[in-house]
Amino acid sequence: MIELCFATNNKYKLDEVSDQLGNSFIIKTLRDIGCTVELPETSGTITGNSRQKADYVWTHFGTPCFADDSGLEVEALNGEPGVDSAHYSGSRDAEKNIEKLLKKLAGNSNRKAQFVTVFTLVLHGVEHQFEGRIEGQILTEPKGIGGFGYDPVFQPDGQNRTFAEMSVEEKNGMSHRSRALTKMIAYLEKQVD
Ligand code: IMP
Repeated sequence: MIELCFATNNKYKLDEVSDQLGNSFIIKTLRDIGCTVELPETSGTITGNSRQKADYVWTHFGTPCFADDSGLEVEALNGEPGVDSAHYSGSRDAEKNIEKLLKKLAGNSNRKAQFVTVFTLVLHGVEHQFEGRIEGQILTEPKGIGGFGYDPVFQPDGQNRTFAEMSVEEKNGMSHRSRALTKMIAYLEKQVD
């Protein structure tokens, strides 16, 4: 049985990932391994931050682990908010972040955007990265009350509802995070065969 620490303090993510990982793995939390510090996220990119968090846990605790980092990239804003998605408006308030985004896009007909997630796995001291994306459009006003972050203004291509109008299961069936996670799980499952 492979033991892995998921380098996150987000309970929602922990539950989602534990559900998908099934019984072949034991998932430890940061608290389980005695890591109580805030993990570094200073690289300036989503890929870099994902790597930084996993490397920190491996280097300081020697525990096989994985970390994730995500963000929203808007084409007309040259990839903004990107790595700054969580605190785009200067605070972590999702409503304010959406407000800033809609203001910046006001009058712009190019509404193309994508959510991106990168998982970094450190197993036997070797690093592997897995990426998931979902493309869509930024609406001109929020719709729906589910989800979190930018969900009320993000409508995936091929859908007529935003992420915030979908059930958790529906969103998880197509999200950037679940796509990246599915790739990581496929890799991990090969390791236990
Ligand atoms: P994290 O790295 O997964 O914590 O994501 C950073 C930020 O990106 C979040 O605080 C949200 O603002 C945004 N974000 C990431 N994933 C999603 C999503 O599935 N829906 C809406 N916003 C998201």
